[in-house]
Amino acid sequence: MTTTLTLRRPDDWHLHLRDGEMMKAVLPESARHFARAIIMPNLVPPVVTAADAAAYRARILAALPDGMAFEPLMTLYLTEDTDPADVRAAAASGLVKAVKLYPAGATTNSHGGVRDFAKVRAVLELMAEIGLPLCIHGEVTTPEVDIFDREAVFIDTVLDPLRRATPGLRVVMEHITTGQGVEYARSGGDDLGATITTHHLIINRNHILAGGIKPHYYCLPVAKREEHRLALRAAATSGEARFFLGTDSAPHPDRLKEHACGCAGCFTATNTMSLLAHVFEEDGALDRLEAFASLNGPGFYRLPVNEARLTLVKGEAPAEFPAKITAGAEAVTVFDPGFPVHWTIAP
Ligand code: DOR
Ligand code: ZN
Repeated sequence: MTTTLTLRRPDDWHLHLRDGEMMKAVLPESARHFARAIIMPNLVPPVVTAADAAAYRARILAALPDGMAFEPLMTLYLTEDTDPADVRAAAASGLVKAVKLYPAGATTNSHGGVRDFAKVRAVLELMAEIGLPLCIHGEVTTPEVDIFDREAVFIDTVLDPLRRATPGLRVVMEHITTGQGVEYARSGGDDLGATITTHHLIINRNHILAGGIKPHYYCLPVAKREEHRLALRAAATSGEARFFLGTDSAPHPDRLKEHACGCAGCFTATNTMSLLAHVFEEDGALDRLEAFASLNGPGFYRLPVNEARLTLVKGEAPAEFPAKITAGAEAVTVFDPGFPVHWTIAP
């Protein structure tokens, strides 16, 4: 028996495309299935100004293979020196769709992020005024706080005070990983959204640590206990408008993942839609996959939904995905869910 499911073409509301050879390799993996993506600005050096974003956007479009349609939605990396006038102009021109807040030191290339929130107050107020979303990597970086508690502590000590101090600020809680994240997202109005990754719907912390360390499952925020994964599954499959897909597909060369100090990131662009179909079917929610992947994100970002469609096909035989893709001289491991998946994308 073959089952098919046709959706409006999905968007990815949190994606790392990198630059250069890596970008050339990973961009088609996303563009094959997704119409648009919010492009993370944590390059080295980061995408800080409107001019940086315009130049990066041009490099992405130049790397897009002929015949593929894909719209990069650009973001700016918030620093303590970000100029509100530059943000205002970047938003007004339509170039920039969000600003990204990395607490300094929270993750890959975040050392230029924010330490003192007083220094970004004027930018946040401007964003509240013009309705430009702030995408937040929600983890405290305090060494004393256990890594598994960093999201929950961030919500209480940083996110909630920040939102109270900036009425009207539209916030996306990026890649939530906890029941507390789900609960806090639900406590907001339509000024609060949350992205959920594919991999956090599939793995818990045992997948990383039990039976040998699995560096390709290590990402930030790190996967938590099973009860949190189940809370994320319930949120993603609920159809609620505040929850939408942000894969956080984050390629790193294998030699830097399989390393004494391995990089954080799961590369899921290649098989994300197939994995999501599996997850939503398992939870009896295939009819809500379109809301999560194709409708709720544009709703939050106040953009039109895509007119094109994507068809998923469930076959008898398990789908075959490449174990790795090649990026220049590097290999990048594709996320392995650890179970057979029968959904593929119709050509
Ligand atoms: O796992 C992650 N990888 N989490 C992040 O926040 C950043 C990302 C990256 O850029 O590699
Ligand atoms: Zn990310």
